[in-house]
Amino acid sequence: MLKKGIVLAGGDGTRLYPLTKTVSKHLLPVYDKPMIYYSLSVLMMSGISEILILTRPEDIHLYEKLLGDGYALGINIQYLAQPSAGGLPEAFIIGEEFIGDDHVALILGDNIFYGSGLFDFLKKNIELENGATVFAYKVREPNRFGVIEFDKDNKVVSIEEKPTFPKSSYVVTGLYFYDNNVVSYSKSLSPSVRGELEITDLNNIYLSKNNLHVKFLGRGNAWLDAGTCDSLLEASEFVRTLEHRQGLKIACLEEIAYLNNFISKEKLIQITETLYDSNHKKYLLNLINEN
Ligand code: DAU
Repeated sequence: MLKKGIVLAGGDGTRLYPLTKTVSKHLLPVYDKPMIYYSLSVLMMSGISEILILTRPEDIHLYEKLLGDGYALGINIQYLAQPSAGGLPEAFIIGEEFIGDDHVALILGDNIFYGSGLFDFLKKNIELENGATVFAYKVREPNRFGVIEFDKDNKVVSIEEKPTFPKSSYVVTGLYFYDNNVVSYSKSLSPSVRGELEITDLNNIYLSKNNLHVKFLGRGNAWLDAGTCDSLLEASEFVRTLEHRQGLKIACLEEIAYLNNFISKEKLIQITETLYDSNHKKYLLNLINEN
């Protein structure tokens, strides 16, 4: 059972400069909540309750102030520093002790997933015996991502990181489930030409061992990243539109904790009472009264 997950919330957010000159990227607002809520919510929806957040050393205290040790959400949150943006697989080297002998999930702190049935889809795919599971999504500009190449029988042949000439429109999203080999495989990687350990190289190791499972996120799902000024605004607009229309919140962590049985109704009531008067509090009060 995969119960541990890492949120990667480091890096300098240079593409968002000067927004990120004084504010850590994953604390920037995506409409009505900090960016990191969205990635954290995906791990929680997958049933993961032991979480490690990796961020820049100077930002750890801010994330601790925001989320504490996770007690209010019925989960356990630990924090470690990633001194510089050495690449995504560093998560498994820095997080080796946290991972121990277990399987582990990784989610990038700037990724947003939304879709009907996502809860069930994630829960179904999290149970991997061994190997790695990645999620593929069709996009208009694949060259910004890890691009999947298929043969004529739709078998995955390779993954290429940000190729100039993408071999398909399907890319690997920023959510990954790995078996315990991920630690030793990550340690075996060398930095790419851009000076980082590449998650695509890691996934290609699993592929070469015939142990990479690619699951498709269908068109009924939305996958957004909020790493540029345009994508950040688009993500906010997306969340606002859905929340206004439906009156339901995306990535409301207390709600997810409650629906996932991480916290009881009594605890939800207790936590809600401590909140400042806000739309957030109003939403939770409605949730409590509806149930
Ligand atoms: O979003 C999915 C894509 O993420 C994949 O398709 C690519 O294969 C993968 O390499 C990655 O590409 P990006 O260029 O989008 O990664 P980026 O460097 O922007 O980092 C993604 C997030 O991870 C971002 O919020 C910052 C954080 N990060 C990044 C690095 C390199 C860290 O916390 N530490 C790091 O060392």
